[in-house]
Amino acid sequence: MAKPIRVVVTGAAGQIAYSLLYSIAKGDVFGKDQPIILVLLDIPPMLPVLDGVVMELQDCALPLLMEVIPTDKVEVGFKDIDAAILVGSMPRKEGMERKDLLKANVAIFKTQGAALDKFAKKTVKVVVVGNPANTNCLIASKSAPSIPKENFSCLTRLDHNRASSQVAMRCGVSADKVKNVIIWGNHSSTQYPDVHHAKVDVNGSEKAAYDAVKDEAWLRGDFISTVQLRGAAVIKARKLSSAMSAAKAICDHVRDIWFGTKEGEFISMGVYAAGNSYGIPEDLIYSFPIEIKNKTWKMVGGLPINDFSRAKMDATAAELVEERDTAMDFLSQ
Ligand code: NAD
Ligand code: LMR
Repeated sequence: MAKPIRVVVTGAAGQIAYSLLYSIAKGDVFGKDQPIILVLLDIPPMLPVLDGVVMELQDCALPLLMEVIPTDKVEVGFKDIDAAILVGSMPRKEGMERKDLLKANVAIFKTQGAALDKFAKKTVKVVVVGNPANTNCLIASKSAPSIPKENFSCLTRLDHNRASSQVAMRCGVSADKVKNVIIWGNHSSTQYPDVHHAKVDVNGSEKAAYDAVKDEAWLRGDFISTVQLRGAAVIKARKLSSAMSAAKAICDHVRDIWFGTKEGEFISMGVYAAGNSYGIPEDLIYSFPIEIKNKTWKMVGGLPINDFSRAKMDATAAELVEERDTAMDFLSQ
């Protein structure tokens, strides 16, 4: 049997974690032969809840789960960690914008970034889910200077899955028949879901998404706004933010980091923009089309960008620049 890997989930007493932990522990993410030590980090008042989560994980009787370690201490939580899934933060409530949460989250992700820097393996893969995910990820990365920036990413896979599913439903095909949608930019309502490079398999014949959908007005209108506003729509309906779909997207994201993306396919994730990618300003965590091999991601370059897309890619970049600048002010306080 392989040596166990150590995986930490923060916000482990929360609702996303409740959907996520079982999938990780039963091998859906790191493979069916990979033993796991699962570290559950939350804040002190949630320790009694974590005890319940630990009991349930034990009661699942999962062969890959070697140990479960509940803790409220970052030095325990991030010790020798191979994969860190940073879910814990304050979820947005109905009517609240992500920016309202920026200040509290800068403090959380600064502390956790510094702890990763000090205690985690230098090869650790860090995935930020807690909102505002892109900027939290940037702050965590800046606070962990000894860990390569490429090891940090933020979750836009939920938006990616939402976009694929909308197109699939419109074409009357299953979701796996749609590939290469792109989410550009921020995991917020300014994100740009782009299907100019997407393909749909309709009855065994691969078509460009625009040809398969045959409704440009929808693709440039309601499709985009539905994906952009989906998180808020779920909150309005459930009075809680997405959890089941978020957990599924985290599994997709981390599994692709571990095992790579399929040949000829790309996915979306927020990664460090170094300033030479599609004209996006540097020093942001921006969602791009990404291919992954050998646990290393590569941006898919050279896709033609029309004026419609350019304007939307720039608008979401502008929001990220503003978020970053505000966050950097909080960081220096
Ligand atoms: P939740 O309130 O159910 O759980 C959050 C948990 O985080 C709580 O148990 C809380 O105690 C814990 N927490 C708070 N501060 C912490 C800290 N400093 N260290 C460790 N744990 C801490 O929320 P949820 O529904 O699980 O959502 C978690 C986050 O994920 C929210 O910010 C939400 O907006 C975000 N989210 C992101 C996406 C995405 O696609 N990127 C999708 C859905 C939700
Ligand atoms: C989502 O996309 O469902 C979450 O990020 C929740 C939100 O605030 O939109």
